Amino acid sequence: MNIEKQREFIEKVKNMNVGKNLKYSIFTMGCQLNENDSEKLCGMLENMKYTKTDQISESDFIIFNTCCVRENAEDKLFGKLGEVKKIKEQKGTIIAICGCMMQEKHIVEKIKKSYPFVDILFGTHTLHKLPEDLYTVICEKTKLQDIIDIDGEVIEGLPIKRNDKIKASVTIMNGCNNFCSYCIVPYVRGRERSRNPEDIINEIEELAKQGYKEVTLLGQNVNSYKGNGNLGITKFSELLRAVNKIQGIERIRFVSPHPKDFSDDVIEAIRDCEKVCKIIHLPLQSGNTQILKKMNRKYTKEQYLELVDKMKAKIPGLSLSTDIIVGFPEETDENFEDTLDVVDKVHFEQVYMFIYSRRVGTPADTMQNQVPEPIKHVRFDKLKALVEKQIDENNKKYVGTTQKVLVEGKSKTNDKMLTGRTDSNKVVNFEGSEELIGNVVNLKIVSEHMWYLKGEL
Ligand code: 5AD
Ligand code: SF4
Repeated sequence: MNIEKQREFIEKVKNMNVGKNLKYSIFTMGCQLNENDSEKLCGMLENMKYTKTDQISESDFIIFNTCCVRENAEDKLFGKLGEVKKIKEQKGTIIAICGCMMQEKHIVEKIKKSYPFVDILFGTHTLHKLPEDLYTVICEKTKLQDIIDIDGEVIEGLPIKRNDKIKASVTIMNGCNNFCSYCIVPYVRGRERSRNPEDIINEIEELAKQGYKEVTLLGQNVNSYKGNGNLGITKFSELLRAVNKIQGIERIRFVSPHPKDFSDDVIEAIRDCEKVCKIIHLPLQSGNTQILKKMNRKYTKEQYLELVDKMKAKIPGLSLSTDIIVGFPEETDENFEDTLDVVDKVHFEQVYMFIYSRRVGTPADTMQNQVPEPIKHVRFDKLKALVEKQIDENNKKYVGTTQKVLVEGKSKTNDKMLTGRTDSNKVVNFEGSEELIGNVVNLKIVSEHMWYLKGEL
């Protein structure tokens, strides 16, 4: 899609803003795809002569990039909106909300009714139109809603201001066709649309030239990526092999794949590509076959475990991380035991645990026998205890080993320490000179702590 028109609006807003020293704040909720979208929003805003500030009280423009995958993300937005109302009254700040929540009609209605001071509402399919929408609101002093239901096209060429100088995210596809019964994503992000292989490869080659060392390929369902055949790439395994050849990039990660689409060619590509990290995020959601069926996940407990065994057999040194939902409707204590059993068997490196959250418009929301909140919490705590016990045991295995660590920067909590990550995504803190930032170094692991390891050069 042609974004020439948006470039013109960027120029127009920039010309109006020159010399005014305008500031913006951005709040991003949710997943890495949203983070990547926010980097594009920042790119457009900086091109329009806004500079980023952490002080929301001095902002001339405030934008919320929202998530609706669980209720707590929604609560965060409403809490913040109360705060920005005062800033707007004092300063005339322009307020915008975009992202997944804006694709939900009941939320848009609620915002228009309860927070009428918000200036711009735009959705996931109109992200690239920020310059045009902002221009209209500034010139016409109106409020504006720019939300469409039809799937947007793949947009290329938006400016981008990245958060990091070593690691970068690259969205390879958008949307989801799976309709897991608890999940709102297919309704708010639309059907799967893959970017063209040459656009992805060009972007990563450019990142390598700028000195980036690690890329994470992003999509709601990366292993159903479909290339148009350019550069010989039609599927995810071929994309992985092509990215692996890009000089300068040292590490490749990807999130999230779906177990049902994890074909042998992807497993073999991970095995063969030395830059692809040997940790795979493989969302389980539940370990019980009946619950998995109700979730519309299209695999059984046994199939998941067989896949894990196959992957571990084919890829030496492989570790796994996962997502799990506790308290899905109709989940019994007995069903939940299967989830604990899978966690016990697989020994995940990391488990992202979620309490089931009802989402309006999804099939699971209208299922009978919703699990009472206190029971969800009891199960969550049980799972958490098991996971923490495993992480603790697993951490101990690192002590005394030598790990290749990509140095990401100074530690946030201790200025004298550097921080980086192992191939398996474990945080390692160590003492060293700043020149090491951006390099892969060998570190001897000397001690372990719950959420990080300590290393020595
Ligand atoms: N409730 C709780 N967790 C959810 N997820 C998706 N939808 C819901 C929901 N309604 C979790 C899944 C998914 C992760 C991104 O969020 O585990 O993999
Ligand atoms: Fe949601 Fe399932 Fe699609 Fe993931 S695969 S985004 S959980 S519907």
